[in-house]
Amino acid sequence: MQTLTLSPLHPVFAAEVQGIDLRQPTDADLAAKIEAAMDEFAVLVFRDQVLDESQQMAFTRALGPVDMGLLKVLQRRSRFKEAGMIDISNVDLESQILERDDPRLITMLANQLWHSDSSFKQPSAKYSLLLACILPEQGGETEFADMRAAYDALPDEVRGELEGLAAEHSAFHSRIQLGDRQYTPEDLAKYPTVAWPIVRTHPGSRRKTLFIGAHATHIVGWPVPEGRLLLAELLEHATQSRFVYRHTWRPGDLVIWDNRAVLHRGRRYDLSRRRELRRSTVEDAQV
Ligand code: OGA
Ligand code: MN
Repeated sequence: MQTLTLSPLHPVFAAEVQGIDLRQPTDADLAAKIEAAMDEFAVLVFRDQVLDESQQMAFTRALGPVDMGLLKVLQRRSRFKEAGMIDISNVDLESQILERDDPRLITMLANQLWHSDSSFKQPSAKYSLLLACILPEQGGETEFADMRAAYDALPDEVRGELEGLAAEHSAFHSRIQLGDRQYTPEDLAKYPTVAWPIVRTHPGSRRKTLFIGAHATHIVGWPVPEGRLLLAELLEHATQSRFVYRHTWRPGDLVIWDNRAVLHRGRRYDLSRRRELRRSTVEDAQV
């Protein structure tokens, strides 16, 4: 039996976990404890977890079925042997730092917009697990915003207005917002848009959450500009500093976040510096 020791990192969410070695197999008891901690804190930070690919995937699978994100569509070759491993790095297949104007950097840059992983597909992502390998000396932090606290802080009238509204989410919208046009109609067709209610009840905590972010293109049934403005206003509200935890990475940090409860974004850094992280993702099998 492994015991989790939790130290809160922020007044409303996020905690550091001590007492766990993730290289060891995760049994059902530990997985259940982690899920309970995730339901409460929504972001968990594990320090000094130097995992190899197989150890990270084994831990990921212990938490649920693996989400493949955009890997299916982009069909890019990868530096990794594990099929579900996503390269969150500014380097090419030979581990050379990408040129500033390389189109492959767009994914990393789009990660700097507030988003929920895989919100553009059904099922979307439950947990993301991001492991830091090599970091720039400055910048490149990751921020998380608590969408439960953000919902709780909305005025009653706004909550009323949001009831029954859904937003459409598209796989390429965050990239398109940054001026990227590299997708063929076939690429776009592989990921049809998906509509999600803007307010959802988290199945684990039963708390209401705002489900928005850079993949949301518009509000279903509303004129697009009006819907985009409402989404922008909600995002501005939801990402006030009182709802945000900023994680400053150290090599060997593994951070898990609940995409149903938080938004996240990377922060700017000097792209000529190496930044290498590795993400695996658990699918939201509940919906
Ligand atoms: C991700 C992501 C942000 C970052 O891995 O899903 O959005 O800081 N990362 O790299
Ligand atoms: Mn992400």
